[in-house]
Amino acid sequence: MRRSLAPPSRWASLLVLVSAFCCLFLSTAAVKHENFKTCDQAGFCKRNRAYADAAGVSGWEAPFRIAAESLTWKDGLLQGTILKTINKNGETVRLPVTITFLQSGSARVTIDEERRQKGEIELRHNSIARKERYNEAESWTIVGGLDVSKTATESREATRSTVTYGSEGQFQAVITFAPFSVDFKRDGATQIKLNDRGLLNVEHWRPKIEKVEPEKKEGDEETPAPEVEAGEDESTWWDEPFGGQTDSKPKGPESVSLDITFPGYEHVYGIPEHAGPLSLKQTRGGDGNHNDPYRLYNADVFEYIMDSPMTLYGSIPFMQAHKKDSTVGVFWLNAAETWIDITKQKEAHNPLSLGIGSKTDTHTHWFSESGMIDVFVFLGPTPSDVTKAYGELTGYTQLPPEFSIAYHQCRWNYNSDEDVKDVDRKMSKHQIPYDVIWLDIEYTDDKQYFTWDPLTFPDPIGMLKQLDESDRKLVAIIDPHIKNKAGYPVVEELKQKNFGVNNKDGNLYEGWCWPGSSHWIDCFNPAAIKWWIGLFKYSAFKGTMANLFIWNDMNEPSVFNGPETTMPKDNLHHGNWEHRDLHNINGLTFHNATYQAMLEREKGVLRRPFVLTRSFYAGSQRVGAMWTGDNQASWDHLAAGFPMIINNGIAGYPFAGADVGGFFGNPEKDLLTRWYQAGAFYPFFRGHAHIDTRRREPYLVGDPYTGIITRALRLRYSLMPAWYTAFHEASVNGTPILRPHYFMYPGDEAGFAVDDQFFVGSTGLLAKPVVKEGADSVVIYIADEEQYYDYFDFKKYSGKGSQTISAPLEKIPLLMQGGHIIPRKDRPRRSSGLMKWDPYTLVVVLSKESTAQGEIYVDDGDSFDYEAGAYIKRAFDFKDGVLSSANLGTKGKMTDKYIKSMKAVGVERIIVVGAPKSWETKKTVKVGKGEAQLEFHAEEGNKAAWAVVKNPAINIAEDWKIEF
Ligand code: NOJ
Repeated sequence: MRRSLAPPSRWASLLVLVSAFCCLFLSTAAVKHENFKTCDQAGFCKRNRAYADAAGVSGWEAPFRIAAESLTWKDGLLQGTILKTINKNGETVRLPVTITFLQSGSARVTIDEERRQKGEIELRHNSIARKERYNEAESWTIVGGLDVSKTATESREATRSTVTYGSEGQFQAVITFAPFSVDFKRDGATQIKLNDRGLLNVEHWRPKIEKVEPEKKEGDEETPAPEVEAGEDESTWWDEPFGGQTDSKPKGPESVSLDITFPGYEHVYGIPEHAGPLSLKQTRGGDGNHNDPYRLYNADVFEYIMDSPMTLYGSIPFMQAHKKDSTVGVFWLNAAETWIDITKQKEAHNPLSLGIGSKTDTHTHWFSESGMIDVFVFLGPTPSDVTKAYGELTGYTQLPPEFSIAYHQCRWNYNSDEDVKDVDRKMSKHQIPYDVIWLDIEYTDDKQYFTWDPLTFPDPIGMLKQLDESDRKLVAIIDPHIKNKAGYPVVEELKQKNFGVNNKDGNLYEGWCWPGSSHWIDCFNPAAIKWWIGLFKYSAFKGTMANLFIWNDMNEPSVFNGPETTMPKDNLHHGNWEHRDLHNINGLTFHNATYQAMLEREKGVLRRPFVLTRSFYAGSQRVGAMWTGDNQASWDHLAAGFPMIINNGIAGYPFAGADVGGFFGNPEKDLLTRWYQAGAFYPFFRGHAHIDTRRREPYLVGDPYTGIITRALRLRYSLMPAWYTAFHEASVNGTPILRPHYFMYPGDEAGFAVDDQFFVGSTGLLAKPVVKEGADSVVIYIADEEQYYDYFDFKKYSGKGSQTISAPLEKIPLLMQGGHIIPRKDRPRRSSGLMKWDPYTLVVVLSKESTAQGEIYVDDGDSFDYEAGAYIKRAFDFKDGVLSSANLGTKGKMTDKYIKSMKAVGVERIIVVGAPKSWETKKTVKVGKGEAQLEFHAEEGNKAAWAVVKNPAINIAEDWKIEF
């Protein structure tokens, strides 16, 4: 126990805290399973699994059917009513259904409940909560792509309706009325089936019938137990206890569920955040499978474990299914607690084929505690078609300020402004590049955000100015819990203006977090967001300047004394929506409010914010980066980072990273070194450590480690132009930054489960950082017959299959695939900002056909001027011995001015890897009307020949040609 956070009068709460803190500061044990629900302990999860089991039994009749006469078709919308039969007497409840066919080729199925929609229900416990099923998830998540198809057509038969849609009419949805189901087809073949197994379930509203136990008289017969409908176990319908607290559940049982089948698809990916392999596992037991479904319920999971379907800090209910040459996807737009069961079923098509030609179907079963059914269906056929379509809806990743994709130096905590300045000086002295130093919660005055501890941070501006001399930045943490302390202006205003989250009775909710007793800002409230924005103005958040950025942590929200370390589900948000309904979006709303606040801290000065978040949802990619939370300084956590980051990327959120070095514990020097080599390939690259760990700034590790780490950092800095170009691509079409094999080679089945190696953007760089203790080589999988070269010594690798790359501690296994042109900046500097005017190096990596292509994107890295054309986008091409640069940009209002400002930025070196032998005697190349020197290096053993053009005197922003 490090510090006392509670006033002496609050002993009871303190006890709760003591146990919470004991957990937080000890780092030996693994996750406390008893703090988090298993499926069996979550009423609706248990009920829906039981429902699925009952549905699997023969004789099962799915109780949902479309009332055919209710169905209307108009302008791409099929609307009607689903009737749910609720008892043997044939009584039904009405569920409005809409199937929307979008111009993008995506389709959307929503199912609501008429009675709740109309508010014709009674809430228990005098609750003032909203009666409808939550219908505002869309307003936080969807930013486009909802234009309805103008070309979709419908044809109706007695038992079904068929809609043909898609740009070329290549898609079809066959809606069967009874039982209700939808088959989605592409080019005539079924790709996705909804309710194929009849697991659709919408728990309709019903009043609680209080059972009066009849008094027993002597001689009475046993009263028979009341008859319960199949799959309906009333024991979990009402007030639900867990961990000593009770959820009052004023709306009773209200879960929704649906089975989604991917016929012929063996792999499914996505639904972050979980620590486990990219290709998701089966969840209903069996060898090597999980026993619980994958859970999505954003939570502060202390000491999370590996290879687990347990929930973590963020959730994106988006899944891709993949088979040879076909990818499809679904997005389950629901913000309540959600679980997903996955099972796979092998089907032998021809019993005589003995497994040859057999295929696997993946069955998924999604259930959420409340809200509507709202599912988007994407029919591909390629992985990038699916990510693009999903991004059209939820938005593409933010084009971040350029510094934020460089290296970040963080720990809990840098203890004073002098400490920060000292680290800054030492990094420079040791010539270790970094862009950002971070301040964790201890910088504040008594955990009151927007203040500085007057003893330890007396001169924040002096500190920020020193950083600015090297174009370096500071990130300070601001969490959503606001200290409940008299005289703290932020909390006083929050109370006075009613901007906090309320408890179930409608009074301000109080819970415990870092500051002790706290309240939580309710960022679902537009007025609260407006107020929050004001708190970040330079005039309000004193001691800050333009090089200060923000970190949002604990926004699941983490509440130390709350159920499952978060808020009670019956808490109330703006509009009296229950926390239960929107829990998974909570983190996004806080992150979004901070993003809005950082956009314009000073009137008229718009800058790209950088805000890191721990909790996230679909759409968070628009407002900043995420990291994988509190990992541990162990080899298995190092290994877990890549599948998690890659998975986040294919779920539309590529600006992701893990704490380099591991948060808990002290990494051995070789682990720390390997972690930096891996981190150099994280889109978000930050070293971070728990307050109880030893200091581990790279210059402290000692030789040879410091040198090796410095080289890894310099590699990241030298490749910054390539990383920034990859971020640009992600920001315009959603393509992941770390691309797994299945994404690059959708037809190569051997690569579908590979998740420990990846390509970086479109650069052709194929990396497999070492994540195993003591390993001095890795086996890398090559999926094609192209020529590959070692990044550092040009050693050649070719031939489809596995290849061994030697990887002693100082070496990162990194290959360049032939056929690419990689932009770099090779002059080591203190920060990326100082590299702005440095000349480029272009690495032309020749394919077997002696060709190569590449792209570069450049802008000021800070403002939104690129939206007005202030950027450079070029295509590089090498063909028939000629290297050329052509414009890919479109002209805008600010293009000319920007290009003019970049006049002095040239290319200082061109390296051609795999240079033809015929260049051996060549001394010069033609550059326009002039020439430049060529230096040829002959092949040596297995190392490819290469050539260097020095100072070709060409500009990065202009058209040019070099003839070899
Ligand atoms: C929890 C975060 O995950 C961690 O990174 C941070 O250092 C602590 N909170 C303290 O703010």
